[in-house]
Amino acid sequence: MDLQTQMKHAVAQAAVDKIQNGMVLGLGSGSTAALMIEALAQKIKSGVIKDVVGVTTSFQGEVLAAELGIPLKSLSSVSQIDLAIDGADEVDSSFQLIKGGGACHVQEKLVAALAKKFIVVVDSTKIVERLNLDFKLPVEVLPSAWKQVKKTLEDLGGVGQLRMAQKKAGPIVTDQGNLILDLTFQNGIDQPEQLESQINNIPGVLENGLFVNLTDEVLVGKVENEVVVVESLSKI
Ligand code: 5RP
Repeated sequence: MDLQTQMKHAVAQAAVDKIQNGMVLGLGSGSTAALMIEALAQKIKSGVIKDVVGVTTSFQGEVLAAELGIPLKSLSSVSQIDLAIDGADEVDSSFQLIKGGGACHVQEKLVAALAKKFIVVVDSTKIVERLNLDFKLPVEVLPSAWKQVKKTLEDLGGVGQLRMAQKKAGPIVTDQGNLILDLTFQNGIDQPEQLESQINNIPGVLENGLFVNLTDEVLVGKVENEVVVVESLSKI
């Protein structure tokens, strides 16, 4: 197993160790969240964790959790989530995030916003000083509006690229049936809070991947003296 996968496994396990019996859980998406779902399923199967129910954030998570026998509820049938655990594409020192690498950020943000506690699980490659210098900011848009939104985003300084599918001609289509514009700002993102609202105010935009003031804890997997360890970061 390569080092990055070992780091992902370690943070996934560390997050699952924080789950208590009876909790309503938000189950994130992506490769790290998938490892967390697998680790949770093992603990349920062995009887270490009891009476939990999961709310998934994507088709991927729903299929995986159901196959592994994790009891699930829909988002609309719960009034509160006790703990949500999810991955991220970039995390800065104030715990602001870029998410949406798997185009699941609409449901992920809904679940994170409903959660009493939101834990982000990442490997050390995801920690950045400034958002969007390396990873593009995903914006989910209504298919009929993508060109208009792309043009309006340019007025905000963002250059958008329609995310193209692999093994399918044309763009990727989200779980909600929409398209993704991946945005680059020349000098990265200066004021995530302001930008998040500005983008979401554009007609035709469903949601963008900036997760601002939602994260309570970041668990990061890193390598120290050739050993994989997990650190709980301190917010600056
Ligand atoms: C999906 C996400 C993922 O959490 C994010 O892309 C991180 O994925 P991975 O753990 O595979 O690196 O936001 O929309």
